[in-house]
Amino acid sequence: MSRVEKLIAAMTLAEKLGQMTMTASGYAVTGPIIAGDSTESIRNGTLGNLLNMVGADHCHEMQRLAVEGSRLGIPLLIGLDIIHGHRTLFPVPLAEVASFDPKAWTRTAREAALEGAADGLAMTFAPMLDVSRDPRWGRGVEGPGEDSWLGARLAEAKVLGFQGDDLGAADSLAACAKHFCAYGPVTAGREYAAVDISERTLHEVHLPPFTAAIDAGVATVMPSFTDLAGIPMTAHVGLLRGWLREKHGFDGVIVSDYNAIGELINHRVASDLVEAATLALKAGVDIDMMADAYRRGLPTALERGLVTMEEIDAAVRRVLILKERLGLFDDPYRRGAKPETPAALANRRRVARDVAARSIVMLKNEGEALPVGRLHTIAVIGPLANAPAEMGGPWGAAQDVQSHVGVLAGVRSALEGTEVLHEPGVDIQSEATIGIPAAVALCDRADVIVLCVGEAANMSGEAASRAKLDLPGQQRALAEAVIARAHTLGKRVVVVLFSGRPLVLPWMFEKADAVLAAWFLGSEAGNAIADVLTGRVSPSGRTPMAWPRAVGQIPVFFGERPSGRPANPQDHYTSKYLDVPNEPLFPFGHGLTYGRFVYSNLRVTPARVSERDTIEVQVDVANKGKRRAEETVLLFTHDKFASVTRPLLELKGFGKVTLDPGASGTVALSLPATELRFLGLEMKPVFEPGEVEILVGPCADRTKLLIASVDLDA
Ligand code: NOJ
Repeated sequence: MSRVEKLIAAMTLAEKLGQMTMTASGYAVTGPIIAGDSTESIRNGTLGNLLNMVGADHCHEMQRLAVEGSRLGIPLLIGLDIIHGHRTLFPVPLAEVASFDPKAWTRTAREAALEGAADGLAMTFAPMLDVSRDPRWGRGVEGPGEDSWLGARLAEAKVLGFQGDDLGAADSLAACAKHFCAYGPVTAGREYAAVDISERTLHEVHLPPFTAAIDAGVATVMPSFTDLAGIPMTAHVGLLRGWLREKHGFDGVIVSDYNAIGELINHRVASDLVEAATLALKAGVDIDMMADAYRRGLPTALERGLVTMEEIDAAVRRVLILKERLGLFDDPYRRGAKPETPAALANRRRVARDVAARSIVMLKNEGEALPVGRLHTIAVIGPLANAPAEMGGPWGAAQDVQSHVGVLAGVRSALEGTEVLHEPGVDIQSEATIGIPAAVALCDRADVIVLCVGEAANMSGEAASRAKLDLPGQQRALAEAVIARAHTLGKRVVVVLFSGRPLVLPWMFEKADAVLAAWFLGSEAGNAIADVLTGRVSPSGRTPMAWPRAVGQIPVFFGERPSGRPANPQDHYTSKYLDVPNEPLFPFGHGLTYGRFVYSNLRVTPARVSERDTIEVQVDVANKGKRRAEETVLLFTHDKFASVTRPLLELKGFGKVTLDPGASGTVALSLPATELRFLGLEMKPVFEPGEVEILVGPCADRTKLLIASVDLDA
């Protein structure tokens, strides 16, 4: 008998339920405060998993209680939300996605795993793979943005980064694909609200990133808090048992979200913890995080015959196998056994700075306001100018806030010999405006004004939906006063905009000379921003979500299906608004560089394609600008006629090229024809004959794309 089976045979019911329970230590707060266990339950074997603990000593101390103090000596699984770094923070996921750089996505996850594992942890609740087309929802910041195909690439990269090639290694963390699934389209962008989407959208848009995570070998999956078309995900037999386990063969651990099993009572599908625990277990949830429903409800459920011991054993088995795969039975102290070297930390900071700079999206740069060039005096104004603690953005329980670099510090160290002036002007959120005159006065003394405005770090992330997507507090008043004064003096204003989502700021995009979307860039934010401001780095990020003109356009995304009455300004009865254009202000993929790239000569072979073929796509790109820069090239497809309506554009690839001024190069992309399959009328993949457009260019704006086409042979 294997170790796991021997243990299961020896376990009491209470010990089994302990392995199916995860409770929080008090280190970080990531949900409603619920009284946790005492360490006694670790010692008596009725608690097998912890979250929200940090520190190798602390983790080892708890591990010792389990391994040396409990009857069966089963090690603990200890997890934490390591979302975008642990002690060192990298850009928030949405920002990092903007880099369109899967190697960087893997690298930062690897570095986060190294740091987390060195702190004694064995699991992270990441990556978040929820496609988000609604910037009101605060959690878009944790995931891939509006596109599903990109979400799948993120999934692969992150799972590889966190888990490495060996889950048992001392520096690997079990990853968790979350939140399964379709959490993004919560009603009206309101956190934890119900979701009601079509079967087709579920399968075409929301599930593919999870398929990719499973194919990449993700160790765990977390169901979302939400109700999907009448069934809360924590109790969703069809998707958890059916789609995830049976169809996709996922045999890892399903861990509930925080108190989600208990919340089945609020969803009104269970009247007490016995029913709630029964529903979750039947759906295939192995670990109950924070609801204590399994320990309290399953003994009665068992007595009443609502669940079987086999179902309980199956969950325990998966948890124990995960612990075995993590190497916890062989050496529970392997993670956190030795501190990291100063060289590893210094190197990590370099990675953080590099990826942060690559995540910045230059939304506007009129009259080449950027880079700033040689200056005598620069004014760095605004409530986010000298706010290192805000730079981390949401999530980061263990972040080393003291080491974060704010914009002011970054600019000061980048521009030695330049006088750097600073005034905050206003607070991020308060209504007070007394600081505005002093801030405006700096315009008279400075050659260039850098205005740092936006959201506070905690205005996105969990439980951070917003109905208004403007600048909080009195920041608009500050920005308008500063821009007005600067422009009277003939000086330029560069806005560095911090946010966990696209904001709706048409007035600002109109008035500012340049705007950098800086999202939340992590520990090295200030240095990375200075790198772009000064031109040491050409910005190359591309927005992974459209920036709307008005909140009323939401959801606005490029993958829309065609209307029977496409917008036509000449024709009244067409699909449009009376007051704003249909298009967002900046579409998916928008982002400028310090180069000026011109695309030509799109070639696509073969012209006739069968399902087994790979389509080779080539395009020439020339840098007609004055500076060396990196260009991100996006590849879209559009199926012209099909048995079910197809999105107007579908992302299917991207590539990069770095070119000196005057230079040109060729970008080659491969597109397996299987990518052109879609779910037919019967909801099964079909490869239909007919013409498919291949569109290549900088962003999801058809007018900026070169178009060729291929004919599919069925
Ligand atoms: C609730 C969040 O929805 C989830 O993403 C997170 O992993 C857990 N809390 C644990 O903190």
